[in-house]
Amino acid sequence: ATTLGASAAESGRYFGAAVAAHKLSDSVYTGILNSEFTSVTPENEMKLDATEPTQGQFTYTSADRIVAHAAARGMKVRGHTLAWHSQQPGWMQSMEGAPLRSAMLNHVTQVATHYRGKIDSWDVVNEAFADGDGGGRRDSNLQRTGNDWIEAAFRAARAADPGAKLCYNDYNTDDWTHAKTQAVYRLVQDFKTRGVPIDCVGFQSHFNPASPVPSNYQTTLENFAALGVDVQITELDIEGSGSAQASNYDRVTRACLAVARCNGITVWGIRDTDSWRASGTPLLFDGSGNKKAAYTSVLAAL
Ligand code: XIL
Repeated sequence: ATTLGASAAESGRYFGAAVAAHKLSDSVYTGILNSEFTSVTPENEMKLDATEPTQGQFTYTSADRIVAHAAARGMKVRGHTLAWHSQQPGWMQSMEGAPLRSAMLNHVTQVATHYRGKIDSWDVVNEAFADGDGGGRRDSNLQRTGNDWIEAAFRAARAADPGAKLCYNDYNTDDWTHAKTQAVYRLVQDFKTRGVPIDCVGFQSHFNPASPVPSNYQTTLENFAALGVDVQITELDIEGSGSAQASNYDRVTRACLAVARCNGITVWGIRDTDSWRASGTPLLFDGSGNKKAAYTSVLAAL
């Protein structure tokens, strides 16, 4: 096939992009989105500060625009994200303890209910584990409400939208030997053993020279999949250019294709100029919307 989405569909996968609602009026941007991609992830519009800027008052206008755009074109939607230490509204940042726990669960319930039936996969919890060698949880106001906060969030999400796949999503979990990877693996294993609802694990996969695609990336995907969850590459971008960048994109794409339960890849933006990275050229299209060597290598690998 001649597009990312159609090629991924040949093996039953989706190929998605992070999308910003305010760019949907840019015809170059939307032209590429509509022709190449079969899934969208709102880049910021479903985060806690966007959907509940004032406690108990929910605003869905921007996220709804992205969901409507996707629905009109048969694209899947990855919901991102229901519970996270970052991009919390001010009122939540200053909360702790039992009131924060209830506010977090109410947020999960309200947002997942609003989008019930419209979300393929939800990043229920994002980035809850610490970096470094400790293999522990990240300290945050949510973590301080009790170690079971992740489980509570997943149960609330399942109750609100039983049809959505529920994912745990994180970064620096690509190297199988890394303590953070092992810690997330044990969480998923524990959830599966105890029947806590979890259906998928998202690997953000933001790669750069300091944090390259690890040689055991496919092994990591395989080992998580063997726990009985889907694995998804959720925020892919790779710094670099030319053939070196293309070969890294090729490796990531082939790793997913080699794992039956790796059912989709999402890149974190469309053109290099859409990237959240302040500098660099980490995506598949250049600033003018032209296909890069990285695009060609992904298309060939799919
Ligand atoms: C980023 C967005 O791309 C930026 O626009 C925003 O300013 C900050 O967040 N991990 C995640 C994403 O899970 O939500 C982040 O998105 C990138 C890192």
